[in-house]
Order: sequence, then C-alpha cells, then structure tokens
Amino acid sequence: MQILDGRAVSAHIKEQIKTEVATIKQNGGKTPHLAAILVGNNPASEAYVGNKVKTCQELGFGSTLLRFDTDITEDFLLAEVQNLNDNQDIDGILVQLPLPKHISENAVINAIHPNKDVDGFHPISQGKMLLGQDTFLPATPYGILLMLAHYNIDITGKHCVVIGRSNIVGSPMSVLLARNTNPGNATVTLTHSRTQDLKSFTLQADVIIAAIGKARFLTGDMVKEGAIIIDVGINRIDDATRKSGSRLVGDVDFDSVAPKSSYITPVPKGVGPMTICGLMKNTLKASQIKH
Ligand code: GUN
Repeated sequence: MQILDGRAVSAHIKEQIKTEVATIKQNGGKTPHLAAILVGNNPASEAYVGNKVKTCQELGFGSTLLRFDTDITEDFLLAEVQNLNDNQDIDGILVQLPLPKHISENAVINAIHPNKDVDGFHPISQGKMLLGQDTFLPATPYGILLMLAHYNIDITGKHCVVIGRSNIVGSPMSVLLARNTNPGNATVTLTHSRTQDLKSFTLQADVIIAAIGKARFLTGDMVKEGAIIIDVGINRIDDATRKSGSRLVGDVDFDSVAPKSSYITPVPKGVGPMTICGLMKNTLKASQIKH
C-alpha cells in the first residue's frame, strides 16, 4: 500500500507555478489575480477560502477576498460578480459554495464570465469539458488527474467506480476518467445514493473515487485487493480524544480500506491540496490567455 501524498505533490506543482509566475513578472508580464467571494461564515468555507488566498500569496499571485453577510440579496451578489467580470486586473473569479438557500447557485455561476471561470463550474466550461475542448477543468477532478499523472498511475482500460454525482466532483470526474486522454481511457461506472447494491460495483473496481459526503462510508469489505482509492470527502466527526473534540475524516474508512489498497489518498493531506493546485493552474491559465 502506498499513500498518495497530496501535500508533497501539491508542493512540487506549486514550486513549478511559482517559478513560472516569477518569470512572467521578470519579463514585465501581468501578475495573475484571483478574486474569491465568500458569503456568510460557514467554518469549512472560511477555511477553504483562507487556504486559497494564502496559496495565492505563496505563489506570487494577486488576490482579492470579498466577504458578504448571509442576508445579501441575489441581485447584490450578481452585481458584485459583474464588477469582477468588468475589472481588467482580475483574471479568475471563484464564488465559494454552498451559498445561502435564498440565492440561486446556478444564477451566480452562470453570471461569471467563462474566461474567468477558474472553478470550471460555468455551463460553457462544463460543456467544453464534455466535448474534450480546451477549458478550465473543475478544480477537484483536475487535481485528482494531476495526482494520478504525478504517480504515473495508468488507468487505461481500468474499471473506475465514482461514488457521488455532484456537479462539482462526481459528474465531471466520471467524464474526465472516460475521455481519450492521459490520464483517462478508463471504463467508468457512476454510482450515487440511489444505486442498488453499491457494494457489487465497488467490489469490481480497480479505482474508486469516493465523493458522496458521508463520513467513512466506504469500508474494507466493499473493496477488492489492490484497488486504488481516491478519497474526496472532508467530514468533521466527534472525537473526545482530541483537544478540539472533533477531527476530519474522509468518505473512506481508512483503517479498514488502506490494507487492501495498492494506493490510497489520506484525509487530510490527500485530495484537498490537489484541489488548490487545480485552481491555481486554472488561474495562471486564465491570466495567460488574457495577456
Ligand atoms: N465548495 C466545495 N468545493 C468547492 C470548490 O472547489 N469551489 C468552490 N467555489 N466552492 C466549493
């Protein structure tokens, strides 16, 4: 069993980006600039956005964080997105999800200019991805592809079972794994909460991508010997042995699954840091396309 070390891989990729940005600046080019919008004070969202802004600073990117109260109107938020679309200094825009219930996430995502859609959530980005055209790939699936490539894990012809069909992870992941690209060319089964006898699918899987948002959902009895396990989940559970009274676990029950796996991502320090890499690579790309 080998741990897929997201922290180490992301450090390697971030070094490459940092060097590229330094060269761009030396040559008088424009500094890539990411704008992030955070609505409300969901602790998990605050942590994710904080990490993204911090990484921008590490890599020499510019960053702008716009914070708004939970009770802002949808029209107000749409106007703020439009301001960022019109601002020539801003290369990439991300609106941290989830948004409060009274604001339509679709309306907000659709309002982001596709050239600045570094999260890859806009219908144009997702449509281009489906057709295999060059675009911004959604950050988490992109980060997982970067990780597979880094470890030279060949999934050609392999059976990949994706658990979860969200617009952000499961659905785009299933498309990307099946594309005629490298990494890609896998045979993909997309499973979800209504799948009957999920275990019969996971037991056949050479690769499992767990993105269902349920703590330690995938257990050792559900995987075959030698499977590659990618854990996208970030769930906080009670743990009286910790000072904080809680800890983070993935969608995979690491202790029972790891001994059967050939490769496995831990939580934390697995997919999480790779998502940030995907976002940073997209922001650099947005800036380079524009300038
Ligand atoms: N919420 C959970 N994951 C993500 C992500 O990758 N991007 C944004 N904007 N919101 C998220």
